[in-house]
Amino acid sequence: MKVGIMGFGKTGRAVATVLLDSKRTNLQWVIRRSHLLEHRSVPEFLGIYSDEPGLIYTKDEFTASELLDQHPVDAIIDFSSVSGLGYYAEEAAARGIIVISAVSQYPDEQLARLRELAERTTVMHSPNITLGINFLIIAAKILKNIAPFTDIEIIEEHFKTKPEVSGCKTPRPRSSRPTTNPGGSSGKPDPRHA
Ligand SMILES: NC(=O)c1ccc[n+]([C@@H]2O[C@H](COP(=O)([O-])OP(=O)(O)OC[C@H]3O[C@@H](n4cnc5c(N)ncnc54)[C@H](OP(=O)(O)O)[C@@H]3O)[C@@H](O)[C@H]2O)c1
Repeated sequence: MKVGIMGFGKTGRAVATVLLDSKRTNLQWVIRRSHLLEHRSVPEFLGIYSDEPGLIYTKDEFTASELLDQHPVDAIIDFSSVSGLGYYAEEAAARGIIVISAVSQYPDEQLARLRELAERTTVMHSPNITLGINFLIIAAKILKNIAPFTDIEIIEEHFKTKPEVSGCKTPRPRSSRPTTNPGGSSGKPDPRHA
């Protein structure tokens, strides 16, 4: 499967490493906002042996239509930012390209856009795609069913420079929401960690 990545930050790089390692995916390109490392090879940059193209482009070099004409993909994996979707959404839908977005903090307008896209192509959006936290949330729900009076708390900690609210903090319906600590990337500090 040919894949393109939106975003070459902390997570985009980690995802690129996994994709280059997989025999089931072929990394065609990475799009980023700045001109840093423009036209450099992701495998070379990451020090991974690979014959996959994986070239880095800035979004200003091509429109999404030009990019997908010249470097077609089956799936776009988005680890960029809220604004990334606007670049490729329409072209991805028109071409039936699978969209996997891990962007954590879409405003309602963008979420509605994703739902509209899902009418036209396959869309997966997970504000928190991390296996660990999803396992914990499911395990907490199961435990709550078995032992309803169990008091479950999931504590989230982040490095202090993290700029945005994390997907772990995205409100879920009360019935399915384990208790979360108000001190995370966005809440007040947890006095126990003072
Ligand atoms: N779902 C999850 O489990 C999960 C986990 C971690 C992170 N995330 C989300 O993933 C996103 C990226 O996180 P990060 O920590 O990797 O951030 P980051 O280090 O700031 O990297 C963001 C990358 O996206 C690029 N970018 C931003 N806006 C863009 C746009 N409109 N078009 C093209 N490229 C764009 C940036 O380009 P430049 O480098 O050129 O500036 C940068 O390479 C965030 O939304 C974060 O919430 C989700």
